Amino acid sequence: MTATPISPRPGCLALVLAAGEGTRMKSARPKVLHEVAGRSMLAHVLAGVTGAGAERVAVVVGPDRDDVSAEAKRAVPAVQVFVQSQRLGTAHAVLAASAALEAGCEDLLIVFADTPLVRPQTYAALLDALKSGAGVAVLGFEARDPTGYGRLLKRGEDLLAIREHKDASEDEHKVTLCNAGLMAVRGRDALGWLKRIGNTNAQKEFYLTDIVAVAREAGSQAVVVLAPEDEVMGVNDRVQLAAAEAALQARLREHAMREGATLIAPQTIFFSHDTQLGRDVVVEPGVVFGPGVRVGDGAVIHAYSHLLGAEVESGASVGPFARLRPGARIGKGAKIGNFVEIKSAEIGEGAAVSHLTYLGDASIGARANIGAGTITCNYDGFDKFRTTIGAGAFIGSNSALVAPVTIGDGAYVGSGSVITKDVAPDALAVARGRQMEKADWAKTFRKSHEGKPKKRP
Ligand code: UD1
Ligand code: CA
Repeated sequence: MTATPISPRPGCLALVLAAGEGTRMKSARPKVLHEVAGRSMLAHVLAGVTGAGAERVAVVVGPDRDDVSAEAKRAVPAVQVFVQSQRLGTAHAVLAASAALEAGCEDLLIVFADTPLVRPQTYAALLDALKSGAGVAVLGFEARDPTGYGRLLKRGEDLLAIREHKDASEDEHKVTLCNAGLMAVRGRDALGWLKRIGNTNAQKEFYLTDIVAVAREAGSQAVVVLAPEDEVMGVNDRVQLAAAEAALQARLREHAMREGATLIAPQTIFFSHDTQLGRDVVVEPGVVFGPGVRVGDGAVIHAYSHLLGAEVESGASVGPFARLRPGARIGKGAKIGNFVEIKSAEIGEGAAVSHLTYLGDASIGARANIGAGTITCNYDGFDKFRTTIGAGAFIGSNSALVAPVTIGDGAYVGSGSVITKDVAPDALAVARGRQMEKADWAKTFRKSHEGKPKKRP
């Protein structure tokens, strides 16, 4: 589910408010850098607004938040970053980015970085609502429990005002139509309206929500665009973070199934925001996908496997209990069995690595057979070295391949070998102690001990 712009929107400026203190997270990390489905909330929101086609993106961060600016730049290299040095309210935060507004824009999209699940289509719908001539379009939702949210006060289709919970009357508290916190504002009026917002309210804050009343006073119309509550949930603490994770996982599972993958027990499978599954992929229970995984058509991921930064080609089979780490590339029809770990290694088409094996920094040829307990010894405490195994090679069980080393095409390695030198194609290499046998040795030994008491082991 990577964001591809729905359609470009020239003249659209998206402004992401990320100056939250996030004290309720009780974390050394800023709130907006906490992750949902393997990606920071900030990066989710930035992908969302870019996906909706915003031409320019600006982020407002708190003072001394280099980590937040760095994450924003990683997600959108062209992003403009502004600092809000004092936290005086959401309208004040928007004005911290005045320079971006002064440069002029047709539509201004204002979003919160702690609201990570909004889809690009929803941002787009908010912007489209301005086409009817409205000056402000606000994203609203029907809250199961409206406590704490700003209430949307409507007359017919018109949004009259947004009342913050702390400023609302008893009657207004009964309103369940709430402000998700996101809005689109007509660009040419935005700055003027924002400057007119005061801070005479319960929290002595400059409320962005007051832009509705200001726009109406200026003779403009404000409208509401509805979204499902699960999409607009904000994250203020770790309980809400887990709720957002659950909602996004549900969405990713449904997406995978609708695109043609079979999830035998969907609730037990965990996806990353960017997991790509082909058609007729089968995912058994308990599988975890970290970021950067692509699985080709018809592949099977057996139970309790963990995949991160890995590619699995079509028809391959992985697990149960397999671990694919970054740089693992499993070729067509290859088989990775139980208790196998693969890191930075290409496994050729049709190769089999069936049991109890570690392959790191390696390249395995097509149809090679890697016996149980094979280990690539790729690290000497300072550097990493590569192991190359040719097509059709056969590595006997319990072999240690001390890298750098190359096993030629079609070669055999005897079980239990410690291979330190290259093996020529089609050769047999055996590197282990020779077996010896002493006839009747055991019998003689027992006889010499006859009648002696046995010590307990
Ligand atoms: C806000 C809305 C409320 C809405 C709710 C939805 C306002 C005044 N209220 O309330 O109507 O129902 O969101 O979740 O807008 N921020 C800054 N600088 C500031 C203050 C806030 O950058 O000075 C950022 C925060 O990081 C956060 C967002 O703005 O991302 C919202 O601020 P927050 O204080 O959480 O607003 P709410 O009280 O939740
Ligand atoms: Ca909030």
